[in-house]
Amino acid sequence: MRISIIGTGYLGAVHAACMAELGHEVLGVDSDAAKISLLTEGRAPFFEPGLTDILAGNLDGGRLRFSTSIAEAARFAELHFVCVGTPQLPGALAADLRGIEAVMDELTPKLTRDCLVVGKSTVPVGTAALLADRLGRLAPAGITAELAWNPEFLREGFAVRDTLQPDRLVVGTSSARADAGLRDVYAPLLELGTPYISTDLATAELAKVAANAFLATKISFINAVADVCEAAGADVVTLAETLGHDKRIGRHFLSAGLGFGGGCLPKDIRAFVARADELGAADSVRFLTEVDEVNNARRRHAVDLARDLVGGSFAGRRVAILGAAFKPNTDDVRESPALEVAAAIRAEGALVRVHDPKAIDNARSKRPELDYCDEPEKACEGADVVLHLTEWKDYLELDPARLGSVVRATRILDGRNVLPLARWRDAGWTVRSMGRPSALSGSAGQRTAAVRLPPPCRSPSAGIVVTGAGRWGEGRRPRPSPRLLPRQPHQEPLPTSCSVTISDRLES
Ligand code: UDX
Repeated sequence: MRISIIGTGYLGAVHAACMAELGHEVLGVDSDAAKISLLTEGRAPFFEPGLTDILAGNLDGGRLRFSTSIAEAARFAELHFVCVGTPQLPGALAADLRGIEAVMDELTPKLTRDCLVVGKSTVPVGTAALLADRLGRLAPAGITAELAWNPEFLREGFAVRDTLQPDRLVVGTSSARADAGLRDVYAPLLELGTPYISTDLATAELAKVAANAFLATKISFINAVADVCEAAGADVVTLAETLGHDKRIGRHFLSAGLGFGGGCLPKDIRAFVARADELGAADSVRFLTEVDEVNNARRRHAVDLARDLVGGSFAGRRVAILGAAFKPNTDDVRESPALEVAAAIRAEGALVRVHDPKAIDNARSKRPELDYCDEPEKACEGADVVLHLTEWKDYLELDPARLGSVVRATRILDGRNVLPLARWRDAGWTVRSMGRPSALSGSAGQRTAAVRLPPPCRSPSAGIVVTGAGRWGEGRRPRPSPRLLPRQPHQEPLPTSCSVTISDRLES
């Protein structure tokens, strides 16, 4: 089939290459000439594993080409996929639909043949019906153009795989003819048994928004529980594992830590709230505002934990940040939790050095006030604390002993709860996590413990220094443990708990 893909961002560029991979003749169109010339040379304008290979293969095979001309797309294709971005409107919760409306308004009058126009962008429910109406009004006389909606569920970092082996295909149409057209496009995937859900326009639009709202809710749920774990001395990582074994819950999207970011989840839940409000259903999705707030609070909490690690103030401190992308395997820094934490710490007076394997250029243009380094070791030189904020595989492989020799203080916050803590502690690092007990984290900081005070210390505010408590180890008690005195008979009741500061610095 002859297909055009209008908009060659993360979604469109991948979709264009993948549709060609399925055997279609594809023309990718974008108004950004620089992007089009990169794609024409077989170079991806962003980092996405596997994309360059299928771009090159299909350009060479003559099934794929790129252009800046929508008129050319209108002449060429019998099916147009619209993959234009729908970012958050500045100063509002709602999605900005100006890009997609502009494309429809430019494409429709130029159509020279009957066709199907298929929206793939994430839009507020009801948008497709309005665009279908516009398509009908603006199409040249004698041309039949129909609108369908086919949301895309691809994840950055797995975009090629998610497009060629999707969990499901969702297609919203108003006619059997449109449905048949999309079945043709995806025939090779249907042959592999990919579930195909044929529905109306509104349900298809909502399928995407609801999926992202659910994923965001799942992440914020486990992060809210992580806070309770931290307060109660429980371990959110083990807890998530126990939840994950329950088939009704599942382990995916239950990784607690710094929370979600990116170009989709944050803006999609906000646009969902805004649209529900317009529809008079605001109360029903009010919890999504809380999901957003729990997520934002993670960033503030990470900053608090890091400040605590460096003794209460960032002024004059050196902070190394490992990770700038919103998640690993992408160079995307939109709504990146890592970058926001870095900027917040810089604003408190620290010298912040950021490393990321792929996202440094994007991070630098978004946050030019931060320092950037090409190597993690360089970012960590002289650091008072290291923050692990994006879980790139490279960081799992770092040698804690080697890194320990370049920092000023061996303190690390694992904002993603994936580092092999025992290895870091064994190399002498003080490790702090998000939602794990201090006994597992091995951190310096305040915690309350049921310690019985010895007789000379009658006042709960008495200061006691226990030295040589040993290193906190995973599942281990401190060695030698402070001596707990048995309660004496007829003795005045003593306070049964006190606040214990565990520190790696004697003077504190
Ligand atoms: C998301 C949806 O998954 C995808 O279906 C949709 O098409 C676009 O939006 P993406 O933004 O690429 O994809 O990232 P995703 O893998 O969903 O991760 C989103 C964020 O959640 C990341 O910041 C990630 O670090 C975070 N996350 C994910 C967690 O904090 N914990 C988890 O358990 C999972």
